[in-house]
Amino acid sequence: MENKDIVLSGIRPTGNLHLGNYFGAVKNFLKMQETHECYFFIADYHSLTTHPHPANLQGNARQIFIEYLAAGLDPEKATLYLQSDIPEIAELYLFLNMNAYLGELERVPTFKEKARKSPDNVNAGLLTYPTLMAADIIIQKATKVPVGKDQEQHLEMTRTYARRFNTMYEVDFFPIPTAYNFGNELVKIPGLDGSGKMGKSEGEGNAIFLNEEEKSIRKKVMRAVSDSGPTEPNQEKSLPVQNLFTLLKVVSKPDVVQYFEDQYNNCSIRYGDLKKQLAEDIVAFTKPFGERIKELSSNDEYLRKVMNLGAEKARANAQKTMREVREIIGFRKIY
Ligand code: TRP
Repeated sequence: MENKDIVLSGIRPTGNLHLGNYFGAVKNFLKMQETHECYFFIADYHSLTTHPHPANLQGNARQIFIEYLAAGLDPEKATLYLQSDIPEIAELYLFLNMNAYLGELERVPTFKEKARKSPDNVNAGLLTYPTLMAADIIIQKATKVPVGKDQEQHLEMTRTYARRFNTMYEVDFFPIPTAYNFGNELVKIPGLDGSGKMGKSEGEGNAIFLNEEEKSIRKKVMRAVSDSGPTEPNQEKSLPVQNLFTLLKVVSKPDVVQYFEDQYNNCSIRYGDLKKQLAEDIVAFTKPFGERIKELSSNDEYLRKVMNLGAEKARANAQKTMREVREIIGFRKIY
């Protein structure tokens, strides 16, 4: 590896991978696995805050695992695992919680928002979500954490807890991780509803999934929001139309994009044609992903092998950290 940094990121097993996830995050993971020692895991402990049914818990984790493999995460290059295969994370979470304060946890914006949205389920796991995330990260002694803007506060808390441990025990034990992004190279993929970004929570028809059926892709794209068309040459594009062009740019050839740009600029554009082309190119783009997802879904033996491989490596590393942590904290040595 040309780089000493250890990259780690967790993936919440909620819903299927869509184009927004792919271009906004997964593509970066694919680059990182070429240049860094990487740990990527499915955050299935975290998902317990919403009390999933056991069958769904397992099914969702498996499905997301499959989709990330299909998207190109490579078990020979990166360590890929399920969080729940590393029970040492739960032990470190317990230790960190002893020095995590109610006030600081209650102030976290994501906690406040979740508490507001689900006032009947403000459980301790939700409150201590940031200490669990800190445990995920520092147990592998990760130094770079690729996360979106919404997770920066959590990462800041990880830094606090790592520092707090080091200070409290007067050790230089946990590295202090930093957020890691490819900055401007990140493409924010808009949704099809004419506003904001692509996301599964924005409603039916807004997102296109990597394992989506051809027919459904065409239907969603043809129904995408546009506007009534340009009325003068080189007119500025409205947000919904700009969104269609942004999507076109990530899945279509440059000359195709240019063709529609020109048509827009001379006011001869027909959005129906643009959408047809966009649908065509999205179908072509997602097809190989869909095929790999299908293949992997019927290959339990391979999946088990890959999951065990990642779990073994991540667990060995976590166990090493925890042996040292227990000793630092002052527990009796048992090995
Ligand atoms: N909290 C992250 C999210 O919501 C998921 C996550 C859990 C994570 N543990 C992590 C991300 C550790 C980075 C590092 O997306």
